[in-house]
Parts: sequence; C-alpha cells; structure tokens
Amino acid sequence: MLGLRMGIDLGSASLHICVAGKGVVVSEPSVMVCDADTGKPVAMGNAAVEMLGRLPNSLKAVHPVRDGVMDHLEAAQQMLRPYITRQCGNRMFKPNVLMSVSTAVSRNEKRALLSVLSDCGCGRACFIDKPLAAAIGAGENCFKPSGVLCVEIGSGSVDAALISMGKVVQSACVRIGGRNMTTSIRRYLTHTRGYSVGFLTAEEIKKEVAGAVLRNTEVAFLVNGKRIADGIPELFEVTSTEMYWVLRNDLEAVAKTVESVLEKAPTELLSDVLLNGIVLTGGGANLYGIGPWLQERLSVPVRVAQEPEKAVVRGLDFVLRDVSRLFREEYVYLNAQTQED
Ligand SMILES: Nc1ncnc2c1ncn2[C@@H]1O[C@H](COP(=O)(O)OP(=O)(O)OP(=O)(O)O)[C@@H](O)[C@H]1O
Ligand SMILES: [Mg+2]
Repeated sequence: MLGLRMGIDLGSASLHICVAGKGVVVSEPSVMVCDADTGKPVAMGNAAVEMLGRLPNSLKAVHPVRDGVMDHLEAAQQMLRPYITRQCGNRMFKPNVLMSVSTAVSRNEKRALLSVLSDCGCGRACFIDKPLAAAIGAGENCFKPSGVLCVEIGSGSVDAALISMGKVVQSACVRIGGRNMTTSIRRYLTHTRGYSVGFLTAEEIKKEVAGAVLRNTEVAFLVNGKRIADGIPELFEVTSTEMYWVLRNDLEAVAKTVESVLEKAPTELLSDVLLNGIVLTGGGANLYGIGPWLQERLSVPVRVAQEPEKAVVRGLDFVLRDVSRLFREEYVYLNAQTQED
C-alpha cells in the first residue's frame, strides 16, 4: 500500500500519533487555544496547555473531545490537520489512517469522522475499538479464541470490552473518567474545606496523594488555594485518607461498568477472564492502588499495563505493522465514498 500509515488516538486529555516504521511520534495534550472571535487556533498541544488558566478574554481554550466523545468535529479537524501534515512532509501520496474510537461510537458518527479525516488530507481510514487497541498495546494476544477483558480508563470515559478472536464481544462505555475524579476533588475542597483550587492543582493532588486504596502510612500534600470566604490565598494541607474517601463514588462507577460486561459475558469467555484476569489501560490506570482495589472489589485478577496511557497508540502501531491483518480481521480501510450503509 502506498502512502504513510498512521495511527491516531485523539482523547479528551491527550493526542497520540504513531507512524508505521517509526513508532509513537506525537504525545501531547489534546487542547487548543483559539481566538474567541474568529475561532482560529493560535496554539495547540504542549504550547496551549501552558496558557490554560491564564487566558485573556480574546482567547478561549477548546477541547476537541469531551467526556470521551468527539462532539466538536470542526475542532478535531483543526487540531489533527497540522499534526498529520507535519508527519507527511511533502509526500505525494495521502496518508492512510487507523483511528481508535470508543465502543459507543455509532456508524453515523464514524461516517462523520471519516469526513473529518478526509478533510485533514487523509487517504483511506479505518477504525478500531479503543479497548481492543489498548489490549493489543498492553501485550495481550487478542486474536486467539480466548476471552480478554480490557478496561480503558481515560480522562473522559471508561470503555470496557470483552474481546475474543480480534473482535469485541461485549462492551460498556460510561462518560466517567479521570477528569471526573479531578472534579470530585475540586468539589470536595470547595464545599467541605472552603478552598477554591485550579484544575491543574486538583490534578496534581490526585496524582500525588489520591488513591483507590488507603496507604499504610498517610501522606500529606501542601496545596496553594484561595479561601472562599474572603478570597485570601493560603497554603493548606490535604491528606491521602481524605482523597481516598473523595474518590469512592467515581471508582464505584468504574467497577459497575466492568461488572456489567462480566454479567453479560458468555460462560466460556468468563472462565477465560477469571483465569487470565482483567487488564487496565488508559491514564486513569495510573491511580494509586487501582489494580489491587478492583481485584478485591470484583474477585478477579487485575493487572495494570505498563505506561497505560500509551496502550492504545502502541496497539495501533502493532496493527499497522501488518496491514494484511486489517483486512483479515475486517478492519478494512474505508474512505468517505466507499463506506456502505
Ligand atoms: N498518576 C495518576 N494518577 C491518577 N490519574 C492519573 C495519573 N496519571 C494520569 N492520570 C489521569 O489519566 C487521565 C488521562 O488519561 P488518558 O490520556 O488515557 O485520557 P484520554 O485518552 O485523553 O481520554 P479519553 O480516552 O477518555 O477521551 C487524566 O484524567 C489524568 O488525570
Ligand atoms: Mg483515551
């Protein structure tokens, strides 16, 4: 096949791109800063994230993907086009793209995405379910007749899928992810502790001291916030135990999503999962203690993938190395004209 082969994982928090033969070439935040009047992007990725929380009224932050869903297609196109063009250089042939999508994406939404990719200068495009790509990227053999359960915990969504012979057999997707956990931390600090903190500070608290399990030794963290009562800035302390309790509801929603897939699983595939365990991927899988907690909660072995936030793009890279597999497994390359109803 002529032209570059490219894998794209555009998430609510980050954009990862791989190129066949080169591996992962882009890992940046999936945010743009745009002119508030014209909508024209002025910065994206790492450059845009430095400006967040410090924008004048003439500029606004735009997230092409919200809660795991690409509902701002024009923004997605604005964000993807420069990255795709940069990778292609001045090649004659258009790049062919494999894009990861949530298991909840409908055929119509895929069709709309095809137009976005085509407008970005891509030749042919095809889609792969995010948890399937993630499981492959986590090193699971998804192409044999045996059940693999992968739970991809992103920023905006949790996508759990039971996979066998290269296909998703059962899945569940909820629009709850790492971002909700960060929001829960901010809400708690506002309502219970009386402090207002920025989103990035709450993210830091989550990564430093929050957890799915209680730590043997409590950890404290100093935070810069603003007292809501009088607006005075103040340094205050949060503890890992407090944060453990703050995350209970969000974590329970993750467990319920996985349970719903286990409940619907055919018996043979369920026995495979009970034997082989569940694999956790996505940035949210970095949360302290999430593996042992889910294992205890569901009584099923759980392992966290290495660099879980890159599992999807590693899976895309793996599949792109063998284009014949794309055809064999029926993830055929389509374009806007050839996609049937
Ligand atoms: N050490 C950590 N502890 C807790 N959460 C973490 C940690 N590291 C990253 N995260 C969270 O992982 C999330 C980002 O994960 P990821 O990059 O997989 O999301 P995404 O792919 O952009 O989102 P989605 O696929 O849902 O649209 C963020 O919410 C971030 O706070
Ligand atoms: Mg993701």
